[in-house]
Amino acid sequence: MAIRKIRTIGDEILRKHCKPVKEVTPRINELIEDMFETMYDSNGVGLAASQVGVLKQIVVIDVEDGNQYVLINPEIMETSGSQTGPEGCLSVPGKSGTVTRPEYVKIKAYDADMKLYELEGEGLLARAICHECDHLNGDLYVDKVEGELEDVTPDEDEEGEVEE
Ligand code: NI
Repeated sequence: MAIRKIRTIGDEILRKHCKPVKEVTPRINELIEDMFETMYDSNGVGLAASQVGVLKQIVVIDVEDGNQYVLINPEIMETSGSQTGPEGCLSVPGKSGTVTRPEYVKIKAYDADMKLYELEGEGLLARAICHECDHLNGDLYVDKVEGELEDVTPDEDEEGEVEE
C-alpha cells in the first residue's frame, strides 16, 4: 500500500470524466487500497480515483459508520429531500463552503469483487456519495457553493471538517 499524491484544483485531470471499470485487476485492487490509505492519511471521508490521477469510476468512502464503501461504476438511482451544510474536498485544501445535497440517495454500484449491490445513504453518507459521484463526472463542489468559499483554519480542520 502507498499514499498517492492528491491532485488539487487547477489540475485539469479533476475536470475530466472517469471511464467505467470492466474488471477488477490486481492493479485496481492496489489502487483501491491506496485510495483508502491516502484518504485516511488526509482525514478525508471520501476519495475518487481522479483525485489521485486515475480516470476510472472508482470511489472509496468511510464516514465512520463502520463500513468501508467501494463504489465502482456507481449510478444514482433515486434521491429525495435536501440538506444544506458545510462541505470540503481534499482537492481543495484549506477551504470549505455551503452546499445543498439530497438528504437521501440510493445508488447501485459494483464492489471490489465486481458484485453489483445497492446502497442507501442519508445525511453525511448521502452527501459523500453525491460529492464523490460528482468527481467522476469532473464536477467539483466549488461550483455548487452557496455564497463564498471560506478559509478553514488548521484548528477547525482538526475538529473534523468534512473533506472529500
Ligand atoms: Ni472531493
